[in-house]
Amino acid sequence: MSVSAVVVAAGRGERFGAQKQFLTLGESTIAAASVAAARCVADTVVLVVPDTYSGSGEGADIVVTGGATRSSSVRHGLDVLGDVDVVVVHDAARPLATPALFHAVVRAVHAGAAGAVPALEITDTVKRVQRSDITRVVETVDRTTLVTVQTPQAFRLSELREAHHSGAEATDDAALLELRGALVVAVPGEPTNIKVTVPEDLVRVRELVKES
Ligand code: CTP
Ligand code: MG
Repeated sequence: MSVSAVVVAAGRGERFGAQKQFLTLGESTIAAASVAAARCVADTVVLVVPDTYSGSGEGADIVVTGGATRSSSVRHGLDVLGDVDVVVVHDAARPLATPALFHAVVRAVHAGAAGAVPALEITDTVKRVQRSDITRVVETVDRTTLVTVQTPQAFRLSELREAHHSGAEATDDAALLELRGALVVAVPGEPTNIKVTVPEDLVRVRELVKES
């Protein structure tokens, strides 16, 4: 089965306070590390960038401009893909996903799923809250059926294209397939596959790179 990747790097980095994906990590950038990681499964890597981007592509084969939301940016990436069997969608802001994780999600799609996502068990107690002037704890939620999910996420390209056809919005791509009742499976995620969201995350990622 042929595999391509879409690495989304068109976010504004509002919580970080900068376009974190283009900050340096070792010899290159966070986005370049994410593109390089995706190469372990993908013959073609598409990088989706902000319209203000003036770099030289972070090592990707194709560079396209993204949209106002993550889902829109993914659609811009899907638009330029050829007809491969499987697409892996990855956040540029997750530079530490390992080749084993890319292979695991692709393998799950090869095995018959429409989509596959890396998932982590929740170890903290989970509570529902109501926010007003104070934050009131409403109840404790059963965590045994909950996981948190990461990228890379792998999909049959035809299924993901159909799921995105409506122009729907979600914080990840798997959500759009779940809404259609498609089979999305979870594979074990990686605790070190940190998404750089706030500056402290980048400190941790740089520490992990130095330790490796
Ligand atoms: N992303 C994108 N296009 C958007 C929004 C997000 O390509 N319109 C990408 C980001 O560049 C990032 C990934 O989606 O690689 C995950 O998004 P997130 O971590 O939320 O990054 P930002 O949206 O940039 O950050 P924030 O939400 O704090 O503004
Ligand atoms: Mg965002």
